[in-house]
Formats: sequence, C-alpha cells, structure tokens
Amino acid sequence: MKAILITEDIAGQGVETLKEEFHVVFEPNLWREPERLQASLPEFGAVIVRNQTRVTSSIIRAAPQLQVIGRAGAGLDNIDLEAAASAGIVVVYTPEQNSISVAELTLGMMIILARKLVPANRSTKSGQWKRREFTGVELYGKILGLVGLGRIGYRVGKRAKAFGMKILAHDIYANPDAVLVSELSAQMVDMDELLRRSDYVSCHVTLTEETKGLFDYGKFLKMKPSAFFINTSRGEVVDEEALIKALEEKQMAGAGLDVRHKEPPEEGPLCEMENIVLTPHIGAFTEEGQERVVTSVCLDVAAVLNGKEPKNYFNL
Ligand code: MLT
Repeated sequence: MKAILITEDIAGQGVETLKEEFHVVFEPNLWREPERLQASLPEFGAVIVRNQTRVTSSIIRAAPQLQVIGRAGAGLDNIDLEAAASAGIVVVYTPEQNSISVAELTLGMMIILARKLVPANRSTKSGQWKRREFTGVELYGKILGLVGLGRIGYRVGKRAKAFGMKILAHDIYANPDAVLVSELSAQMVDMDELLRRSDYVSCHVTLTEETKGLFDYGKFLKMKPSAFFINTSRGEVVDEEALIKALEEKQMAGAGLDVRHKEPPEEGPLCEMENIVLTPHIGAFTEEGQERVVTSVCLDVAAVLNGKEPKNYFNL
C-alpha cells in the first residue's frame, strides 16, 4: 500500500477518502521539524503540505520514493519546484479553489478599516456609545489599486466594482486587453500611479525573488495619507519595518494584514495600533474554501499515485 505523509493541519472528506486506498500518516506539526521530516520522507510516495512546510531540495533529494507533492493552497513559494522537476516529482496544487475566500476576506478588511469596526466594537462593548467618533468613509466612488490581477485580484476587483469602486491595476504579466480587465473596467497603470491615486492598495502577487520586499518605505511614501494598505498574499512581499514606520508617521491611514513576514509573528508595534487589522493567515480558511482545497489536492495526489493525470499540476 502506498503511503502519504501529511505535514500540516489538513483534514476533510478528501483525506478520509484517501485513507480508503492509501496508508495516510497525519503529522500536523511535522513542518516545525525539518530534520525529522527529511528523515521520515524516504518511506512515502506522497507528501501533502500547506504553506508552512519548506519542501527544500535536500528534503526532495532524500526522498527517493516520492512521486508527488500536494500543496493544499495556491502559492508554491515553499516548494523547490526546480528540485522537484529534476527529481521527476509531480507538484499538484489548488490554484483556484480558495480564491473566493481570500477575495471575501480582502473586502472584509477594507470595510473593517473604512468603518473603524475594530475600535467601534471595543468601545461599544465597554459600555460607550460614541457615534461621531466612529464616523467612517464609504467604499463607493473610491479607487482600489490592485497589485496583481490574477485569480484573487480579479475576484477582489469584481466585488469592489459591485460596491461602486473604481479599479486601477498593476500587473506586469496581465494583458491590458484581457477580458477580465474590461470586465472590471480596470485601468492598467504603473506602480507609481497606482500608489499615488488609490484609496485602497491591495496586494495579490505571488512570492518570487522579484516580489520579495516589493512594498518598501519608498512605496508607502507614495500612497495618500488617507489610503489603506491590504495584504492577503504573502508576508514577505512587505518590508514590515517600513510599514510600521509609515504608519507611525501617518504616511497612510491604516492597514489590514492577513499574512506576515514570520508566521506566527512575534509581538510588536503592529499589535498596538488601532488602525491595523491583523488576522492569522486565514484568507483561505472558510469551510467552503477548505472543502474545495482538500478535496482537490487529495484527488490529484491519488491520481498521480495511481498513474493517472491530475487536474491541477505545476509540472508533470
Ligand atoms: C495559499 O497559498 O493558498 C494560502 O496561503 C493558503 C494556505 O497556504 O493555506
């Protein structure tokens, strides 16, 4: 019986179905112990991870029986894709299955910030009734700048358009004539223009060498003092020290961060700021999103182990 190792908190019907056909070992905390992971992996034909397990070239080289790496999520930045390809290991993932969940969280953060819901909630629960103090702003008529117009950026744009927002987008890979650009009535602009004009800047890029530290102090300085910055993509695309400095200096109005440079992060000044909303990388964590992600990745892992073609793969 072929064996599958799960190294993070991944559960659902998809996993239960895998157990009927394969020997499934569930070690949800193994991502914290890379040496033990490397020592365990040689016995397995498949490994299923989220974003916290670092599937490095040395881990891949030490796993001669490995046929498939399943990534329960969209980002592939934690997997050495070149090493997997040269070892002939298929990487399957879920590029689309959680996009709606991430897009909805992004809109949620925009509303929370615009309407000061976090301090308003705290104040009201403490027995106060300060209506004037919690005067917010509307999303209607405001400009949303999408940095990255892929599956998630597009879905954020669609929802923002329904709120009456105008969409600017910057994406070095997107075709300005693409249907999705016209569907959003989006204006493709360069980064500087997007930062200068947007009331909300929302980041939806993948983490690559080019996007690491993309949002630095210089970028935050270009934003309007009334603008908000939202990041539901990857923490490493933001220079957190620069963000803290920009917020302390009131170069921008606030920020919503679902992802952090280090996860879990250490406590720091961001935790003290009223105009910051922090969540623990839960963009993809909805019941529906997880059901789709887990089912899809499990089906694709099973397909590869059974010699069939998976649906969503990075390399085959
Ligand atoms: C993703 O890459 O899809 C998200 O970060 C979700 C996750 O890793 O669980």
